Amino acid sequence: MPTTSQRTSLFTESLIREMTRVANRHGAINLSQGFPDFDPPPVLIQAAKDAMDAGRHQYAITWGAPELRAALAKKITRFTGAPIDVDRELVVTCGATEAMMVAMMTVCDPGDKVGLFSPFYENYGADAILSGATPVHVPLHPPDYTFDPQELRRVFASGLKAFVLCNPSNPTGKVFTRAELEQIARLAEEFDVWIITDEVYEHIVYAPHVHTYFGTLPGMAKRTLSCSSLSKTFAITGWRLGYLQAPAEVIAQARKVHDFLTVGAAAPLQHAVVTGLNLPDSYYHGLAAEYAEKRDILLGYLDRTGLPYTRPQGAYYVMVDISCFGYASDLEFSHWMAKEIGVAPVPGSSFFAGGENRYVRLHYAKKAETLHAAGERLLKLKR
Ligand SMILES: Cc1ncc(COP(=O)(O)O)c(C=O)c1O
Repeated sequence: MPTTSQRTSLFTESLIREMTRVANRHGAINLSQGFPDFDPPPVLIQAAKDAMDAGRHQYAITWGAPELRAALAKKITRFTGAPIDVDRELVVTCGATEAMMVAMMTVCDPGDKVGLFSPFYENYGADAILSGATPVHVPLHPPDYTFDPQELRRVFASGLKAFVLCNPSNPTGKVFTRAELEQIARLAEEFDVWIITDEVYEHIVYAPHVHTYFGTLPGMAKRTLSCSSLSKTFAITGWRLGYLQAPAEVIAQARKVHDFLTVGAAAPLQHAVVTGLNLPDSYYHGLAAEYAEKRDILLGYLDRTGLPYTRPQGAYYVMVDISCFGYASDLEFSHWMAKEIGVAPVPGSSFFAGGENRYVRLHYAKKAETLHAAGERLLKLKR
């Protein structure tokens, strides 16, 4: 028989999605894969029904329904202050997942190097490999996940084509400060590197931390491919809607990649989400406040367990140090925890480039009652 491709042997199945299956097997509360157990705003559900009734069943324009691009551009400008050319600077994708893949394939050739902070959202490694590029890593040092400017410089100087920035960060909950982003920007300029951002948690940031859009830093718009999503902002991870915003010359190439990968995201849902994008600022502020409450519920229980963790500044994940349990493998610990404690985490090693084995990641995009139920179970971990 012929063999399957070499490149598909270079990465594994997603451990995050695997932990969801483990949670289901043991009837555990699933704090692994980061999706909500609550519904999107009712106006969005109604808008989806209306879009179906209005006959929006056929392909939308491949780079996004015009109404959606217009609404996205308005929303982006509302939060970044930057004007967007809706016809030349935006592509609607099947989630940020596709946006990141498209961005990477658009700027990378086989043999190029892509820089990633480690720990990192696991898709980026596969995205780089599928683009023919080699990932190179810059450590973010626990517990506060700061980087060493010299280590960052060394990686930029090694001949990068692109650098991926996830901000606010999954899995660490870190929100990069403006000063940190400016260091990255200076290196991008000096070594002429594309920056691919993943800003899907842009609206889930906890005061006093603030989100700085990388593309708004002086001189950075021309070298930034900004990826984001509607999954997290509107609790619609299953709708598969995201986007890539970049300079017109980049989007001209990215549109082709997107078209041949997927043609487009689901047409009726593209129309429906316009209703969400037009919600007032109060919706976005309310979102951050709701997630702050969820965070505080989960952290309250973690405090009672005595386990060390890093307080999230944004996104909805917390990295918990499980080294006191003495497990040789965090995967083994995670299976044990799902089965015996009844709460499923993600083993931290799935995010780290090296052999880091001391952490699990929990997420709190859950109803308060789910978090309380999980928290009561977590108390069994008390040390
Ligand atoms: C950092 C990050 N990027 C991208 C995604 C996927 O986003 P989407 O649902 O828009 O594909 C996730 C989902 O968990 C994520 O955490």
